[in-house]
Amino acid sequence: MDDRAIGVFDSGMGGLTAVRELIRRLPGEDVVYFGDTGRVPYGGRGADTIIKYARQDVAFLRTFDLKAIVIACGTVSTTALDILARENPLPVIGVVEPAVRSAVAATRTGRIGLVGTKATIASGAYERTVRELMPQAEVTARACPLFVPFVENGRYQPGDPLVELLVAEYLAPFREAEVDTLILGCTHYPLLKDAIAAYLGDGVRLISSGAACVDTVARLLEERDMKNAKTQGGLRRYFASDSAQDFGALASIFLGEDIQGQAQQIAIENY
Ligand code: DGL
Repeated sequence: MDDRAIGVFDSGMGGLTAVRELIRRLPGEDVVYFGDTGRVPYGGRGADTIIKYARQDVAFLRTFDLKAIVIACGTVSTTALDILARENPLPVIGVVEPAVRSAVAATRTGRIGLVGTKATIASGAYERTVRELMPQAEVTARACPLFVPFVENGRYQPGDPLVELLVAEYLAPFREAEVDTLILGCTHYPLLKDAIAAYLGDGVRLISSGAACVDTVARLLEERDMKNAKTQGGLRRYFASDSAQDFGALASIFLGEDIQGQAQQIAIENY
């Protein structure tokens, strides 16, 4: 048993798609979440900046006594996982391998699509992992840089003409490539799931990278006997680097539960 909290971070709200799944699957676990809403998006930035931001995010989280850190961000997972894992003496879990494992298990045809931020696609990390786990797979990848700002501004509903236009523009190559599985390689994208499914149709399985990494967390806690003694009622604390009020309002939508008034703003540049 280990009653310490799990630290989870993202450049913004996207990592909450992982927290939602964590709460559903492991309801007794305490969670400390940090969303770097003051500096989002990370995905269009260079590797040095992403690494610097990620180190600060981890330094803030480690002011709490944690048993593991979840990088609930495709961009940081593809750019800085090895560095963060090397620098920190606790398990650091990213989203890439768990998402690829789910995709490889789901595909029937071996034609797998991947969407992510510019930095994620440029890193080639998802493709490398697919090649390791399923060498015969064909991967079609595309960066979708406008998805994150849309989601962060609450625009993701099917039926929203701008959302539909954007989805059609970005996802046309996946229809053409006839993928049967699409990895949502950025943790913001599950909010667009309905709009994406409406465009690609029921035949395409959508893999949420944030939700997939919870499998790995659950397995790790089980294997190392590190589960919280509580099985319900885990404590959740939320921090953001921009307005706590704005975070609370949007986070409530991401989490499907009202957390307004519970978030706190911190000065991430001090870490
Ligand atoms: N949720 C982050 C990711 O998974 C968002 C990227 C960004 O900040 O650009 O990549």
